[in-house]
Amino acid sequence: MDFHQHAVCDTTNPNAAMQQPVLGYPTGGIYGYTHPFGGYQGSHAEYIRVPFGDVNCFPVPDGVSDEQALFLSDAVPTGYMGADFCDISPGDTVAVWGAGAVGLMAAASAKIMGAERVIVLDRFRDRLDLAEQKVGAETVDYTVADSVYETLRERTGGRGPDACIDAVGMEGHGTGVGQVYDKVKQALRMESDRATSLREAILACRKGGVVSVLGIYGLTDKFPMAALTNKSLTLRTSQQHGQRYMPQLFEHVTEGRLDPSWLMTHDLPLSESVRGYEMFKNKEDNCLRSVFRP
Ligand SMILES: NC(=O)c1ccc[n+]([C@@H]2O[C@H](COP(=O)([O-])OP(=O)(O)OC[C@H]3O[C@@H](n4cnc5c(N)ncnc54)[C@H](O)[C@@H]3O)[C@@H](O)[C@H]2O)c1
Repeated sequence: MDFHQHAVCDTTNPNAAMQQPVLGYPTGGIYGYTHPFGGYQGSHAEYIRVPFGDVNCFPVPDGVSDEQALFLSDAVPTGYMGADFCDISPGDTVAVWGAGAVGLMAAASAKIMGAERVIVLDRFRDRLDLAEQKVGAETVDYTVADSVYETLRERTGGRGPDACIDAVGMEGHGTGVGQVYDKVKQALRMESDRATSLREAILACRKGGVVSVLGIYGLTDKFPMAALTNKSLTLRTSQQHGQRYMPQLFEHVTEGRLDPSWLMTHDLPLSESVRGYEMFKNKEDNCLRSVFRP
């Protein structure tokens, strides 16, 4: 049994009853993630209340800068967990959908864990460049590739990646008929998700492989259950269990294997936070993450 599933803690969510109709059993509290998740302030608040501070706070060790520590609270542990879910063996190929901060950290973590090849898919050239230059990953611009499945199949000797990580989520972008279908159903409020990347990851994964889902989904239509069962795939997913990974992540940073500070593309005063969020939301000016200084 795994005793380190902090995101599903039984005792930190005072609003647990609000989740029961949708989830069956509630999650733990999550900072800045609406009332059903506990109503805790997010980390842009002036003060945040940390329940069980002895477990949920970590002293930042010497040798870890503020800019590095900042990302160890979200994008890094999420990406790291996604790679950890893949049970990577030396020689493995891992494909990552989405080159946002989460996907880039999943790719970097897969390399740290021994993946021989990491292939990152996105449509933004600046993000794919970071995947190549900072992570040493191969990249695919899915708007140029005729078929993501065929491209990955060709690049893996006809077998498919050993593990596929979805770091996109319900606001996925697509190029084909599937995207039109999702957009129409969304507009009619008949589904909440545009799950292009999740469907592609399940289809592209090799037989017996792992699909690791970091992207957040709601009600997903056309979920390819047949491919999961018939290809004997393992599906793993969670909100990130940050506390579980923090000691390892501090070690990776202090020992020079990981430097997440380059995720900060925009270093802004707090007074410019609205502009910083807009740039992040609309992916303007090559914005990956905005950091605000009070
Ligand atoms: N599980 C967790 O604990 C956890 C924690 C943090 C974030 N998340 C989720 O992770 C996801 C990614 O977060 P982020 O901050 O990196 O977001 P982001 O929006 O910066 O990045 C998502 C990337 O996916 C790309 N994309 C869109 N459609 C695609 C497709 N069909 N194929 C390939 N790439 C595609 C976009 O171009 C974008 O670069 C979100 O769903 C977020 O909510 C989960």
